[in-house]
Amino acid sequence: MINTASIVNIPYLQLREGLNELVEGGTRFFHMDLMDGHYVPNLCYPLDLVREIKAAYPQVTADVHMMVTNPMDYIDRLKTAGADYVSFHTDSTSFVRRTIDTIHRAGMKAGIVINPSQPVDHILPYAKYVDMVLVMAVEPGFPGQPFLEGTMERLEELADLREKCGSHFLISVDGGVDRERCASCQKLGIDMIVGTRHNIFHQPDGIREACRRFEAEFGAGEQ
Ligand code: DX5
Ligand code: ZN
Repeated sequence: MINTASIVNIPYLQLREGLNELVEGGTRFFHMDLMDGHYVPNLCYPLDLVREIKAAYPQVTADVHMMVTNPMDYIDRLKTAGADYVSFHTDSTSFVRRTIDTIHRAGMKAGIVINPSQPVDHILPYAKYVDMVLVMAVEPGFPGQPFLEGTMERLEELADLREKCGSHFLISVDGGVDRERCASCQKLGIDMIVGTRHNIFHQPDGIREACRRFEAEFGAGEQ
């Protein structure tokens, strides 16, 4: 499994050191939350931060999670910034297929995000077009929330759906995932864990060791 580290867990004034520790710990994906204060009642990251991080860590994959209304408005600038994956909430636009196509035409990989309130089979119309489905284990907008009951069952249902459809999208899970749940996710065939305060950040031995532990336990065999 891939640790796509949710960098919103790094205090802003310690961001550079935290990013260096992630890379030294073997992390190859940064999960970057963008929040507009409208789709979610919180604000997070200017697009310029995506550009600066990609310029400083070109070898790291920028996994951008848009919690914004009208995600189409940001795609061109995310392309310029160097984003690799761009995921958006299906209920944040009236034009899901057009948004997926626009992300692809810009040369990036497209992901859709489903909230805890949305049924898993909601992704069926998009299953063969997307590169990733991000399953929220918390309500979007704030780090530090507890993993919602019922999410493991939803992940199992999505993994089954993917098999039935013969689709190849990556499954990622976001919010409150601790080490125990990483093991359960691995058994289900989940591809990416949004690395959180429960398994990567705020650990007694620090970010670098926590990342190394994740890679040793769950990252084996990653290309
Ligand atoms: C929540 C964000 C998540 C969150 C994950 O809206 O999408 O990426 O920051 O961080 P944890 O799991 O540490 O709260
Ligand atoms: Zn996120």
